[in-house]
Amino acid sequence: MPHGRRSESNSDRPPSRHDTEVRGEPLTRLTSLPWLDADLDRLSVDGLRRRRREITPLLNGWCEVEGQRLLNFASNDYLNLAHHPQVVEAARQAASEAGAGSGASALVTGRTPWHVRLENALAEFEGQETAILFPTGYAANVGTIAALCGEQDVVYCDRLNHASLIDGCRLSGAAFRVYRHDDLIGLRSALERGTGFRRRWIITDGVFSMDGDVAPLPALCDLAEHFNAQVLVDEAHGTGIFGTNGRGVAEHQGVEHRVAVRVGTLSKAIGSLGGFVAGPQVLIDWLWNSARTQIFSTALPPSCCAAACAALEIIRSDPARAARLHDHATRLREALSDSGLHLPHGVAGPIVPVILDDPERAVRIAAQLEARGFLVAAIRPPTVPRGTSRLRITISAGHEAADIERLAAAVIEEVRKP
Ligand SMILES: Cc1ncc(COP(=O)(O)O)c(C=O)c1O
Repeated sequence: MPHGRRSESNSDRPPSRHDTEVRGEPLTRLTSLPWLDADLDRLSVDGLRRRRREITPLLNGWCEVEGQRLLNFASNDYLNLAHHPQVVEAARQAASEAGAGSGASALVTGRTPWHVRLENALAEFEGQETAILFPTGYAANVGTIAALCGEQDVVYCDRLNHASLIDGCRLSGAAFRVYRHDDLIGLRSALERGTGFRRRWIITDGVFSMDGDVAPLPALCDLAEHFNAQVLVDEAHGTGIFGTNGRGVAEHQGVEHRVAVRVGTLSKAIGSLGGFVAGPQVLIDWLWNSARTQIFSTALPPSCCAAACAALEIIRSDPARAARLHDHATRLREALSDSGLHLPHGVAGPIVPVILDDPERAVRIAAQLEARGFLVAAIRPPTVPRGTSRLRITISAGHEAADIERLAAAVIEEVRKP
């Protein structure tokens, strides 16, 4: 219906709180979903209602929010590559040659030379035969798990796995078993009980996104081999950061050859957008034929592929970036834990959470830090389990050592306030 008619038919009604102004034209909610007001009010009462904001990214780990310049400690652009001149120039050039969008899914007409170049670059980077791209890391996890697991199978999921792993497991129709975080004894007994399935899968994050700790992959591989199961690892927060070649936690822990499937994202340390799986030809051929989040979705814009290729090249040629990131993260972790703040056990990389339990306290302290010039995310249920609301601090290689020291001092002071 044209906007004009919609506003006309409601012109005799006084404006209600459901009316929204878009470019000066009043829009009115056409259908009524009355229960949503109550549902949103409940979220507000519990301190769980999300607030969206506009954030302007600036260079070197800075951003601007509501007119204030802030040091950004809430981004996953760990290696500060999203703004790297070579990465931006590669994206610009691809967009000017290929256009802004790819126009179709990869199997139809969306797989351009930029996509092929990135598939090859990822295969080489990961030391694998070939690779397949997905629109996002979320889509890569959901599509890959649903393509590999089915109703006759069982999946064992760490309780703190990312939502995309959990959603993929649910969508697959496989029997779904959740084990307590890092609970190898619980997992072993679940595997002992879990007989009669066609295949068994252990599914885990490499780095847990809200806790920043790394999964015990060698022990998970031992269990998988003992019980004839397969391991799938999501390397979303590991790629570019862990391992001699930046391939992630599996490389860092020396188990790449024991992990059946590793899923990655281009949206974090690689500074672009998209997901991928690099692996043997047979696995990738299967995903090309059965991963629905890839088949039925438009391929990435070529500019994202070109940016990711440039970023991979920088990661390969400049390992000092990851080293600087780890130095910053170690300095922050030590400062916070020396002062008695509660960090989860085993935090190892650029994700540094400070557990506060109460969601309102997490939001309040994040606001106080913001007033002091630091953007830090307050993470609340359902993203994390109840009683574990937290500040989630993420470091960038673009930060200066002095930025980390100032942040640490501010966090310690704000958390200690009564
Ligand atoms: C562990 C983990 N896996 C997957 C994803 C999804 O990746 P993307 O943001 O590229 O969709 C995320 C992102 O939040 C994540 O934290």
